[in-house]
Amino acid sequence: MASARLDQLLSRCGYCSRREVRTWVKQGRVLVRGESAESADQRVIAEEVHVDGSPLDSPDGLLVLLHKPAGCVCSHDEAEGQNVYDLLPKRWGHRNPAINTIGRLDRDTTGVLLLTDLGPLIHRWTSPRHKVPKVYEVTTDLPIEPALVALFASGTLILEGETEPCLPAKLEIVDVRQARLELTEGRYHQVKRMFGSAGKKVTRLHRSRFGDYGVEGLDVGCWRILEIPGT
Ligand code: URA
Repeated sequence: MASARLDQLLSRCGYCSRREVRTWVKQGRVLVRGESAESADQRVIAEEVHVDGSPLDSPDGLLVLLHKPAGCVCSHDEAEGQNVYDLLPKRWGHRNPAINTIGRLDRDTTGVLLLTDLGPLIHRWTSPRHKVPKVYEVTTDLPIEPALVALFASGTLILEGETEPCLPAKLEIVDVRQARLELTEGRYHQVKRMFGSAGKKVTRLHRSRFGDYGVEGLDVGCWRILEIPGT
């Protein structure tokens, strides 16, 4: 286990600024191996540190599964209104590196949203090369013709304003205006644009799976920490 400076560690985990760590140490709020910490710059092993009686919160990085509700955006920009980060613990907003979403869902889309502060994980799970399957439950304004199954599977569908065709996608028609669509890429508004190319408006969109993850047992707006998978 690698050691780190106490002040760097606490500020990286979002507890307080490096300067404030000095005060916290003086106040006896920080324990190392059960004893009051000696100084803000002492080297420590994260697993041996307690703050206010609790072990450090996810010092090796965070991977979080959120059941995204409608009405919030996947953006850090407060000007865009309520965002998904507002649904997470406040302290996580001060972590460094920052927590980001792995891909984005539109404001009105619900379902599986992963967030992490581990950059390589974002890269791995958003790159089309890795073909992570994403499953969407789609409701449309007009009936979905069976011919769309072959079109979406063909790998020839070119979205408006693009030159590269979409990768083959699996469409399963569930009801007259309901379908399940599995994609292995994540282009801008991809599901809505794919249906839009066939003259249909998506009236409801829910992501039921992202890779191995689903929202079973997780209420809308709630989250849980996931184990970080190996490489
Ligand atoms: N495709 C869309 O059109 N919107 C989403 O939110 C996700 C995928």
